[in-house]
Amino acid sequence: MAHNLLQGKKGIIFGALDANSIAWKTAERCVQEGAQIVLTNAPIALRMGEINKLAESCKAPVIPADATSMDDLNNLFTKSMEHFGGKIDFILHSIGMSVNVRKGKPYTDLDYDFYHKGLDISAMSLHRVLQTAYKLDALNEWGSVVALTYIAAQRVFPDYSDMADAKSMLESITRSFGYHYGVKNKVRINTISQSPTRTTAGSGVKGFDGFISYAEKMSPLGNASADQCADYTVSLFSDYTKMVTMQNLFHDGGFSFTGISQAVVDQMEK
Ligand SMILES: NC(=O)c1ccc[n+]([C@@H]2O[C@H](COP(=O)([O-])OP(=O)(O)OC[C@H]3O[C@@H](n4cnc5c(N)ncnc54)[C@H](O)[C@@H]3O)[C@@H](O)[C@H]2O)c1
Repeated sequence: MAHNLLQGKKGIIFGALDANSIAWKTAERCVQEGAQIVLTNAPIALRMGEINKLAESCKAPVIPADATSMDDLNNLFTKSMEHFGGKIDFILHSIGMSVNVRKGKPYTDLDYDFYHKGLDISAMSLHRVLQTAYKLDALNEWGSVVALTYIAAQRVFPDYSDMADAKSMLESITRSFGYHYGVKNKVRINTISQSPTRTTAGSGVKGFDGFISYAEKMSPLGNASADQCADYTVSLFSDYTKMVTMQNLFHDGGFSFTGISQAVVDQMEK
């Protein structure tokens, strides 16, 4: 199913680690829809080598960048514009990491160095990416930026720990920068709040299996898959959503607005 929705567009995809990554699926979909892309990830993630398979199938260069390094980001945008021979139309920010979550630290016993690091990688990096693009004037008018988030930004999911704070900040940066970039260049910036999805980052959260099956039972349409998230992202990069900006868009099969479902009631009554 391809409709050339991104024909002629050029984009940067952050965060494809392996074939389960949401960014991996999105990269493939963008290319199927006619886009040219540059792939990027942190140097340490690139050492796994998996991304080379994606680069080959997408005919895309891989430019390393730690999203917390301004030098790396400057280099990434400069080299990408050289590669494309012009400015960029879309960016996917698909980056998240909490050392506290990884090490199983509960929210009431956080390590503050880890907390800083997690906020920088998972939230402030979006500001860094946008500020770099803004200063280099790297995005075309009506460009589109999407970052991935989770509903723990609005409601408490205890084991999501400090990632919840990072996602709240990420969504706030989306609104604040969305204003400035909208006024300057008509660039739109949104977050997609995705269902729990089996990926390296997702599975790192304690109790993930319970979490994912609860969400499945609560959502009238069931959980949204990574492939479906890629489809939704393509629509936001396309010209069909030009007036959508500064929004947090739930892509979760209806989970966010369901109070209780019959499936959960049945489970509770067992
Ligand atoms: N999987 C889920 O359940 C789920 C649900 C909602 C939102 N999300 C969000 O989706 C996004 C993508 O995650 P995913 O689930 O595909 O997992 P993933 O582990 O495949 O992707 C996370 C990516 O972040 C990259 N990253 C980490 N530190 C980095 C740094 N310093 N610089 C650049 N990149 C760095 C990793 O290398 C990896 O590619 C994340 O923002 C995540 O929070 C995931």
